[in-house]
Amino acid sequence: MNRKYRHTVIAGNWKMNQLNSGVKVFLEQLKENMPKARACDVVLCVPALMVPSMVRYGKDCRVAAGAQDVSKHEKGAYTGEISADMLADVGTRYCIVGHSERREYHAESDSLVNEKAKALLAKNIIPIICVGESLEQRENNLTMEYITYQVCAALSGIDAQQVRHCVIAYEPIWAIGTGKTASAEQAEEVCREIRAVIRRLYGARVARAVSILYGGSMNAGNAAELLSMPDIDGGLIGGASLKPADFASIVASASQD
Ligand code: 13P
Repeated sequence: MNRKYRHTVIAGNWKMNQLNSGVKVFLEQLKENMPKARACDVVLCVPALMVPSMVRYGKDCRVAAGAQDVSKHEKGAYTGEISADMLADVGTRYCIVGHSERREYHAESDSLVNEKAKALLAKNIIPIICVGESLEQRENNLTMEYITYQVCAALSGIDAQQVRHCVIAYEPIWAIGTGKTASAEQAEEVCREIRAVIRRLYGARVARAVSILYGGSMNAGNAAELLSMPDIDGGLIGGASLKPADFASIVASASQD
């Protein structure tokens, strides 16, 4: 973390879990467990239909509402899709794009991820852009090359002013939901490289202002070590964000010096 230049962000990704009827109780429990003095932004990215509840009940405990996906289209005949305008209208502050589960199960391409990020920026929603290599790529020493490609593709056509409003999440696919975490050194190495790519594209001032998160089996036990790394500015947390006490404990780790 480096609080001098950028925000620390602890974002939960509920994926397709929880119910709208449970949002209020979850936030009450989270509030009880979270430190009063916080040094990070706290976000919960929830299924779109739970966003209004997250906005309503999250105010009281300063938890921002995030979504998990958005349409690249502005509006029109796209049955089942949700636009950035609709998300903004109900108070969505962040939205994940390019999660590996969407890339894999919904065949999302790098150019689609880029279009979605732009659609969000146009409505002042912060895109949390996910990148990450497969186990095969890591074993073949292709991690840096692939991550560089993904970051460049995701940011194509996004200007320096806008990129300051983007969050990048490094989520190695082999660490997602597996209980296998990248070591703090492995995660730092890639997050540092992501910042180097942003520096090459936009210059040093912009690069030091962009928050880069780590995601992949981050939990109450390993968060402090990961967050102690200079280029890891927070976490994108799946499983552990479903339990108020665990998520609160990660927020506490991110609030310590
Ligand atoms: P887990 O924390 O469950 O590994 O999930 C990480 C993730 O995919 C967050 O987007």
